Amino acid sequence: MTVAAVVTAAGSGTRLGRDLPKALVTIAGTPLVAWAASSLAAVCEQVVVTAPAEHLEEFRRAVSHVAARVTVVAGGATRQQSVALGLAAVSPEADEILVHDAARAFMPVAVSGRALAALDAADGVIPVLPVVDTIVATSGGEVRYLDRSSLGGVQTPQAFRASALRDAHARAAAGGFEGTDDGSLLAAYGYRVVTCEGDPEGRKITYAEDLDHFERRWARA
Ligand code: CTP
Ligand code: MG
Repeated sequence: MTVAAVVTAAGSGTRLGRDLPKALVTIAGTPLVAWAASSLAAVCEQVVVTAPAEHLEEFRRAVSHVAARVTVVAGGATRQQSVALGLAAVSPEADEILVHDAARAFMPVAVSGRALAALDAADGVIPVLPVVDTIVATSGGEVRYLDRSSLGGVQTPQAFRASALRDAHARAAAGGFEGTDDGSLLAAYGYRVVTCEGDPEGRKITYAEDLDHFERRWARA
């Protein structure tokens, strides 16, 4: 099996509110994109990083020490477009592809292993964590309580058969379907998507408090 990865890092990090792209923010002196790319380089033959088009050289510098097989390409206007542009740069020889958000920079590499292992029986694998809050659906002032035990929070890295991922992205682009992750695209086109166990360390860095959490961890380490 040849395994490749796409790391989405082309977002601006509006909610984090820094004056540089979120994936260039450093923890313990290392940019988030380098944390994410090195974890994937441990299990992949090729890692393609998508970066904001106007910051390609900074991103290339940020990952230059990770591994020679890490390349940086320009991402798009949405996460989904960034994944599609990353996919276009993945070798046609890759038969399995991991898609991972740089914003989940500290996801343990074991989760990539679990996702790839579960791919034997599926077209796509999504890491999932149990939901801890009580969840309601809200619309028009009405609330409907959902059965928490049947719900899960979806993380990355997600693992896919390359042909299924490429097909789902092509169909979504043609049909104007936007999902918030890649598993949802495969599910929309009838592919078999299963779960593996996620990890709380893969918490997504969205707001300043998420970054603070990891800064405190590294300060204690
Ligand atoms: N992403 C991307 N291309 C985009 C938008 C997002 O590659 N056009 C990536 C981000 O870099 C991030 C991941 O998708 O690694 C998840 O997105 P999110 O956490 O929302 O990051 P940002 O879009 O950068 O943050 P914000 O929404 O606060 O601006
Ligand atoms: Mg975003």
